[in-house]
Amino acid sequence: MKVETRNSKLETGRSRPSRQPQTGDRKPTAIDYDHALAAARYVTKQGGITPRLGVILGSGLGEVVDRLENSRRLPYKSIPHFPRSTVAGHAGELALGHWRGMPTAMLCGRMHLYEGYTPSEVVLPARALALAGIEVLFVTCAAGGIGARCVPGSLMVFSDHLNYQGVNPLVGQEDERLGARFIDMTDAYDRALRSLARSAARKLGMKVSEGVYAGLLGPSFETPAEIRALQRLGADAVGMSTVLEVIAARQRAVRVLAVASITNRAAGLARERLSHQEVLEAGRQGARNLARLFDEVVAGL
Ligand code: HPA
Repeated sequence: MKVETRNSKLETGRSRPSRQPQTGDRKPTAIDYDHALAAARYVTKQGGITPRLGVILGSGLGEVVDRLENSRRLPYKSIPHFPRSTVAGHAGELALGHWRGMPTAMLCGRMHLYEGYTPSEVVLPARALALAGIEVLFVTCAAGGIGARCVPGSLMVFSDHLNYQGVNPLVGQEDERLGARFIDMTDAYDRALRSLARSAARKLGMKVSEGVYAGLLGPSFETPAEIRALQRLGADAVGMSTVLEVIAARQRAVRVLAVASITNRAAGLARERLSHQEVLEAGRQGARNLARLFDEVVAGL
């Protein structure tokens, strides 16, 4: 009889998601800090800069990276402990360079819980940037629009979020080197940065709303009943990412500006069915606007 042995590749935790994340699904070890610090050291050394601004780019939003001057690209697979993104439209590389003179690190491609990554794996890149020295983090994502102003092609600045992913990256053994365990989330989305984004949108004549983002696990899109429920709970947009990275960034007191590119009306709110292709295409339009909006915000930092 063939006996299954444990797969040593899985134990490295490097390149592939291993299992469905579950609440409390954590070994009581404090390796997250060590891994994030090793990644941070590698990135600053290879990139030759100490980033002050970090950017996380979501589905189809890779165009923002063109704003970086003299960028140096590091594939995720070359960075110690970095998981690799497995989703179409996610590049899986870290770009380092200057954005209007600001030393910047951009994560092109992110890890999602729905790929099977654990919460620790999902937030490792954000933690690495925080340990590398970023003070401000721009987070982007694709999202379905629920609020009346969240129409396809528009942008929504997060004022707050609902974490319905069922997990939290701060679960597990406490490690003070990462920050406090019970962090305040009242102003998770920095008021001054939101105000800068509003001014930038006005100046550019761009349709930008502000609202609450609901982060769900995915990967199936929501049912119309779920969208109606989220609507009653105060959600303006819905997606499958962002909230865990924001929690990890706030644990390190990094100031966050998050913007969703609205790619579709959420389920049941429009006649058409939802498709990943549609999300990617509308995302490309959104990427152009996002790049212009952030360009103005960076100038005001
Ligand atoms: N739901 C969840 N995630 C999404 C959507 C959606 O409608 N559109 C883009 N990402």
